[in-house]
Amino acid sequence: RVISPQCLIIFGASGDLTHRKLVPALFKLFKQRRLPSEFALLGCARRPWSDIEFRKKMSVSLKDEIKLNPNEWEEFITRLFYEPVNLERPEDLVKLGTRLEEIDRIKATHANRTFYLSVAPKFYASGCKALADAGLLKDPRRSRVVIEKPFGRDYRSAQSLNRIVQNCALESQIFRIDHYLGKETVQNILVLRFANTIFEPIWNRNYISNVQITSAETVGVEDRAGYYESSGALRDMVQNHLTQMLAITAMEPPGHFDPEAIRNEKAKVLQAAHLANELEPWECCVRGQYSKGGSKKRPLIGYRDEPGVNPNSTTETYVAMKLFINNWRWQGVPFYIRTGKRLAKRTSEVVLTFREAPVHLFDAAGGTPTSNQLVLRIQPDEGAEFKFDVKSPGSGMRSRPVEMEFSYDESFGEPSDEGYVRLLADAMLGDPTLFTRSDEVEAAWRLYTPLLEIIEDSPWQLPTYPYESRTWGPSEADALLAKDQLLWRRP
Ligand code: BG6
Repeated sequence: RVISPQCLIIFGASGDLTHRKLVPALFKLFKQRRLPSEFALLGCARRPWSDIEFRKKMSVSLKDEIKLNPNEWEEFITRLFYEPVNLERPEDLVKLGTRLEEIDRIKATHANRTFYLSVAPKFYASGCKALADAGLLKDPRRSRVVIEKPFGRDYRSAQSLNRIVQNCALESQIFRIDHYLGKETVQNILVLRFANTIFEPIWNRNYISNVQITSAETVGVEDRAGYYESSGALRDMVQNHLTQMLAITAMEPPGHFDPEAIRNEKAKVLQAAHLANELEPWECCVRGQYSKGGSKKRPLIGYRDEPGVNPNSTTETYVAMKLFINNWRWQGVPFYIRTGKRLAKRTSEVVLTFREAPVHLFDAAGGTPTSNQLVLRIQPDEGAEFKFDVKSPGSGMRSRPVEMEFSYDESFGEPSDEGYVRLLADAMLGDPTLFTRSDEVEAAWRLYTPLLEIIEDSPWQLPTYPYESRTWGPSEADALLAKDQLLWRRP
């Protein structure tokens, strides 16, 4: 698939995401010769930078990468431009229109424009309106808007944001980004499930006893306290990244691989998901917040001591939760999801645990027979493993668990691209398959509404339990599974 001549306009070009993820991803596409020669990147933010200053800033951020590819960078950088824009000032939008026409002329970008809103979430609605009012979204075949997460703060605000952006542009022009969908390993869940015949027949309540989805980070809040304080792990990770992994793991097979068929199935499964109903909402969820920890050599401060964080903050940096999916495939199978910052290890994975054999004929080496487990390793160490029992060598007939392995690195020889590489290319190609549709986003918010309401109205029912940095979260999260005689998998 070939990207047409194109100008990508990034609002929030002075921000973290632009130099950490977006520009490196575009440079990668450039090196892979996936960008058309008629490509331009226009950075926009309030700072009064010039093209030269913008290029310099990007060069400083990417200096290690540039050392390895100096000639390509020299070529790439001539495609970078900058325009100071405050999206709230109509006169700036007029200036932007003129600048875009000029870029069309010098870079032959044919008025094909992808506008990327990498701005604070409170500007998503006004940003879209400003673009529409300036007539920049008029042509649905040539203009698109990419909107970062979190899309809304809760069900109602997501609904209202959907209404606003859909008044500005057609749904086919709107690309709600979730970078987890850009990860090879997340897309691989679809291929593993639907390109093989052995998994689908057992991918259901008859064979699977529970599913665990984890996204654990070792980093803390870093320099994002301003955003994170009003977001917390539920809005920052659960409503989007973890929910997307859940949807892809649990959805029905689509009839064919096209954007609407995939997104219909994801929306349907999310509409069928609900918090464990044998429990009160506050009993299905555990919130935590990291406290100090680390080692003597590398001590780590607690969340409340991080710069910019309220010393009495109750924002959660950890969430664990129990969900069910109310359909024929999954009725009664618990889905446990968890995410947290400053945990013991960086790892994201989906673990499907199968039911025990109905009759135990053999003594198990560890005392208890193991259940088969399929672990889909999203990151790092991308791959999959399957755990099953074999005969322990020697006399007697004892069983013992072993693992079968697949590693991306070993099989394909190189690490996969960052999610943004795939998603930026898809947005410019106009392929929405890996972007979330309005109904999916709303279904995801609806799922967590009972919890968000409790946090808002009666927070004492869902307190944030402290956990030491570089551990696996609060003990209350272990208790959530212990009630079901289960343990979290230690990756
Ligand atoms: C972002 C969150 O969307 O995802 C961050 O805002 C989080 O808080 C990040 O650190 C995790 O992404 P990844 O790809 O490193 O797992």
